[in-house]
Amino acid sequence: MNRTFHQKNAIVCGSTQGIGKACALLLASLGANVTLIARNAQALEDTITQLNSSEGQRHQRIVADFAQPDQLKEQLLLNLRQPVHILVNNTGGPSSGKAVEANTQSFIQAFQQHLICNQMLVQTVVEGMKKEGYGRIINIISTSVKQPIANLGVSNTIRGAVANWAKTLSMELAPFGITVNNVLPGATKTARLESLIQQKAAQSGKSTLQIIEEMQREIPAARFAEAEEVAEAVAFLASDAASYINGVNLPVDGGRTGSL
Ligand SMILES: NC(=O)c1ccc[n+]([C@@H]2O[C@H](COP(=O)([O-])OP(=O)(O)OC[C@H]3O[C@@H](n4cnc5c(N)ncnc54)[C@H](OP(=O)(O)O)[C@@H]3O)[C@@H](O)[C@H]2O)c1
Repeated sequence: MNRTFHQKNAIVCGSTQGIGKACALLLASLGANVTLIARNAQALEDTITQLNSSEGQRHQRIVADFAQPDQLKEQLLLNLRQPVHILVNNTGGPSSGKAVEANTQSFIQAFQQHLICNQMLVQTVVEGMKKEGYGRIINIISTSVKQPIANLGVSNTIRGAVANWAKTLSMELAPFGITVNNVLPGATKTARLESLIQQKAAQSGKSTLQIIEEMQREIPAARFAEAEEVAEAVAFLASDAASYINGVNLPVDGGRTGSL
């Protein structure tokens, strides 16, 4: 399998911690030039120093808040000078809570942060991908695309929209050598998971240990994922080896999702 990203340019969003950071580290270790995007300038600076640059790679960082799509667009236009071959769309997940109790603004915010920003990123890079004859658009979504997760009402709703957007794009862009796929992480050891566990414990009156045990009982692999295990799936979909895989939802969830 060809896992070399030498002379390939990648954007990895939400890449100062968790799944996004693991993707950035792995793609850089395989030779890619990586553009990191997130809000925290210092964390971006720290992450960039951790990226492999042994093959003369050049990495850069863009500070942008996906709550403000226009700011993101401005920063992309200012900073992107090279064609992009790999785009990893990723950002922080929406707050937990029941759909029925969510206010309309939280749906609008999540739609902006996830779908509108993804669309802006794609529109910024797609012509370059077409010219290069190589494009890999990979969206980090959630297994809720296949099976809604209790108490993540806004998230479940937005993930469905992103998945359908991605499937549509995959059909539109396939003739240009561009694939669009979704990676669906299960429970993965990151700050996001920690905060969801704390919230569940606070709401239920149970200890965090009890919550962890309950969650792990639902996973056939009986453990949470490491962020690096999700990144491996992303790197595969970004590679030449995945050239005929297009429009799929790939769960990386230890077998938790009950649907096919
Ligand atoms: N971990 C899990 O168990 C799990 C399971 C299923 C799905 N997911 C989903 O996978 C995605 C990544 O999860 P994760 O666990 O790696 O999350 P995480 O640890 O919370 O990391 C989120 C990353 O996104 C950046 N970010 C957050 N809000 C942003 C904004 N408004 N604008 C720009 N960047 C922003 C953060 O950096 P800054 O703070 O510097 O901006 C950080 O680098 C999320 O959508 C999450 O819901 C996670």
